[in-house]
Amino acid sequence: MKIEEYLETLPKNILSGEDIHLSEKSFREIFRFVDLGEDDIFYHLGCGDERGIEIAVNEFKVKKAVGLDNNSEKIQQGKKILEEKNIQGELICKNIEESDISDASVILFWFTDDKIIKQMFEKFENLKPGTKVITIWGPLPNCLPDNVNFPYIVNKVPFKKAQNMQDQLLAIFGVKCIDFVTAWEFAERYTKSIGTPEIKNDRFLTIIQTLVIWINARNLGVTCGKEIPESIQTYIKIMKMNFDIDFEHLLNE
Ligand SMILES: C[S@@+](CC[C@H](N)C(=O)[O-])C[C@H]1O[C@@H](n2cnc3c(N)ncnc32)[C@H](O)[C@@H]1O
Repeated sequence: MKIEEYLETLPKNILSGEDIHLSEKSFREIFRFVDLGEDDIFYHLGCGDERGIEIAVNEFKVKKAVGLDNNSEKIQQGKKILEEKNIQGELICKNIEESDISDASVILFWFTDDKIIKQMFEKFENLKPGTKVITIWGPLPNCLPDNVNFPYIVNKVPFKKAQNMQDQLLAIFGVKCIDFVTAWEFAERYTKSIGTPEIKNDRFLTIIQTLVIWINARNLGVTCGKEIPESIQTYIKIMKMNFDIDFEHLLNE
């Protein structure tokens, strides 16, 4: 079966990212990386639950922490927990596209939906200079990040425009083109930081992610050469023979 068909067999809420939430370890890594502290007003967009807000308030002592999510059940549940624990964070049930985030100094924004990213980008551009927008895996569209600890990326207002994709690659991966080693290293970092510590199938995820990174890079013309490296060919074969998952059709000529 094609990789797309395999992905279709996974639960929809996992595939859309609706019910994927960051681990507490990831929150701490992100907050340390942006140096979150007592002068900050922190917004977690699409927070899902209260954990990011709880850690920002309790451990990083932020001045104000607000979590926004348009799922009322998730927000109600999160509010209950914050009240029970007596934590001074706000949870608001609202569409992030319609929310006032103008007082933010640090924003956590992990979305993959192009429409939301485009809408929010216009909003972010008008925030006060110095506001940090943390994205995961990629920077804001056509922007050069301010700071990278892959897969965590800091974009700072006013955003710097990237001249081209090589510019972005260099800023994010520290390379001018993607080879097998870069694809593997970054796939592994992503799986390790976003997955749970007890994850059992991380090697399997890393292989899928590596192939997707390398093939996408090739189709965008940013691999180091057009030849398919031997290791990529081997992993394509392993996925086909052992798991009946096909990647070959993704390779444009
Ligand atoms: C963390 S976000 C998205 C993460 C996902 N892994 C991704 O990359 O797109 C998931 C949460 O955002 C919420 N959400 C989705 N769209 C939203 C919107 N327009 N406004 C507010 N919350 C939203 C969902 O209810 C869910 O709890």
